[in-house]
Amino acid sequence: MLKAEKKKITQFYLNKIKELTKYNKYYFDENLSIIDDKKYDELKKEILSLEKKYLFLNNKNSPSKSIGFRPSKNFVKAKHRVRMLSLSNSFDKKDLENFEKKIFNFLHLDKKEIEYSVEPKIDGISASITYKKGQMESGVSRGDGFQGELISDNLKTIKDIPKKIEAKDFPKDIDIRGEIFIENKDFQKIKDKFANPRNAASGSLRQKDPKETAKIPLKFIAYTFGYCENLKFEKQTDFLKALATWGFKTSQFNKTISGVDQLINHHREFEKKRFELSYDIDGLVYKINEFNLQKRLGNVANSPRWATAHKFSAESSFSEIISIDVQVGRTGALTPVAKIKPVNIGGVVVSNATLHNEDEINRKDIRVGDFVKIERAGDVIPHVISVDLNKRHKSSEKFVFPDKCPSCGTSVVKEFNNQTKKYDAVRRCPTEGYECEKIAIEKIKHFISKDALNIDGLGKKVVENFWSLKFLRFPQDIFKLDYEKIEKLDGWGKLSVSNLKYAINNSKKINLDKFIFSLGIRHIGQENAKLISQNIKNINNFSNISSSYNFDFFLNIDGIGETQIKSLKKFFSNKTNLKVIKELTKYMSISKNSLNYSGKLKNKTFMFTGKLKDISRAEAKSLIEQNSGGIVSSVSKKLNYLVIGEKPTNRKVDLAKQLGVKILTQKEWSDLLN
Ligand code: IVH
Repeated sequence: MLKAEKKKITQFYLNKIKELTKYNKYYFDENLSIIDDKKYDELKKEILSLEKKYLFLNNKNSPSKSIGFRPSKNFVKAKHRVRMLSLSNSFDKKDLENFEKKIFNFLHLDKKEIEYSVEPKIDGISASITYKKGQMESGVSRGDGFQGELISDNLKTIKDIPKKIEAKDFPKDIDIRGEIFIENKDFQKIKDKFANPRNAASGSLRQKDPKETAKIPLKFIAYTFGYCENLKFEKQTDFLKALATWGFKTSQFNKTISGVDQLINHHREFEKKRFELSYDIDGLVYKINEFNLQKRLGNVANSPRWATAHKFSAESSFSEIISIDVQVGRTGALTPVAKIKPVNIGGVVVSNATLHNEDEINRKDIRVGDFVKIERAGDVIPHVISVDLNKRHKSSEKFVFPDKCPSCGTSVVKEFNNQTKKYDAVRRCPTEGYECEKIAIEKIKHFISKDALNIDGLGKKVVENFWSLKFLRFPQDIFKLDYEKIEKLDGWGKLSVSNLKYAINNSKKINLDKFIFSLGIRHIGQENAKLISQNIKNINNFSNISSSYNFDFFLNIDGIGETQIKSLKKFFSNKTNLKVIKELTKYMSISKNSLNYSGKLKNKTFMFTGKLKDISRAEAKSLIEQNSGGIVSSVSKKLNYLVIGEKPTNRKVDLAKQLGVKILTQKEWSDLLN
């Protein structure tokens, strides 16, 4: 073959490899499919057949050489028997003291020290593996915590995961949970294809073909359980010990520690040696050691009250501010963001850093063109720490914060906070509804997000794209998409469109609390949405709130205050919002709740007055909720029971008597609960 011809073929081949690598990068690093699955497979095949035909072709990024190729998005979904939670973050002593204080208050403890199981927080991908009668049965990724992807065959390729456990004391039916990760030395071999070890672990775990997964030596460290029949352990540390005897790998750095000061000391020491470990860790996890305390503490929204992740301190670097953009968020908040010259901070290329708000810019006098110190810690958004004034250009000018919304031009406002008696640091676009373009886009992104409708294949980037193509203006437009048009778009094909259609159809069935949360009403997060849905009962009542409900109704819900009510009033006073709800209910089937509605206190409301003995209010409330009861904060005919502790408010007791509300002592109440 002529040299020129050989060169031409090689070039052709390398271009194909380059194209494929680009798709892989998008897929793994940004979770974007910019080519449809069929075309992707064709490209892969073409490369392989070129190699077969011309034996001189060879490249380390070829699909014949390496794994890291795009998996199918089509894993079967599987429900977790027990939800997989995430962890709250702590960064310093103050955070830890607050974390502990809340625990002491909740448990009504005066104790000064409490014991923790301290474990390294491995930066990988968590998985839940079900064993029945000692046999590994299935394995599921975390997903949204309620359901994940069934990746059993891929997990079975991991040597650290026992497939059969003979130990007599191994529970008959248990989900073992832990972290899948890749060691740094193994990551080095494939680092061209992934941004970091975590992405590499995630990518290889989600290969369509388990043989591809097997090519990377993934590791597994176990640290907890989900469902468990007859759990015989009293402490997390006992469970960790048992895990090791059953044949699971556990971290050699697990420890028990009591008291915040000791936690801080250990963290300081450990942070120094974190880089000696053969894999990435991004902090330490502290878990209350005793299971019965964990159980009493329960969880808030997505994370347990009994555990926190103490992150390692941030890594930093220096860069120059190219421009300052002001972004408009879902609730209208204007957030200044510094676009900086890209800089590598701890293995991640950073080109944006938040400046928080106007006050922060003024305080630090941050200007375009300034040289600044940027910090990033774990998954937290990088931020500007300080300005190097010595390097400031003479001609630089103070940054003037816009007084009009950069998206819709409405004059922005600073709200007065009645509690702090101060004006808010944040400027907001006051537009309600969907009139402001940026707010509308952010609302739709929220609507489809993981904790809301959770639509696979419809990420933030796709929403932006569909918005610019005028496919979307309101949340309900998601149910009216023209799939034929989408199929013709660049990066879409039959398969990805049918997946999208499937995911959208699946999302139509939703619980009321999630539905309320998905509307993105300011101050109505997951917890408040749950409270409202418990009290308002069904979607009809919710849709008709503005006409048939007095907003004071909400005041009666313990946990909902003035701030939330003001926000709800503003939301319901907007005609577009009402129309959105009406339209959505046409397409969606909104059922009562994800909560347990069959507990023994079903349909019963409670109120407390006076101090309770040996139990905090928070725990008492949580017990009622666990048994499907409701808590209200004022005495009315709707109240079923008034529980009186020490020194009750006489006015409340008298009113309850007048209205014929049943009065319980604390003892009677706890008997009711058994
Ligand atoms: S416990 C409710 N223990 O951190 C407790 N998680 O943000 C949640 N992780 O999804 C899990 N090391 O992927 C726990 N020793 C450890 C962990 C750990 C890493 C990860 C896990 C989880 C995430 C929580």
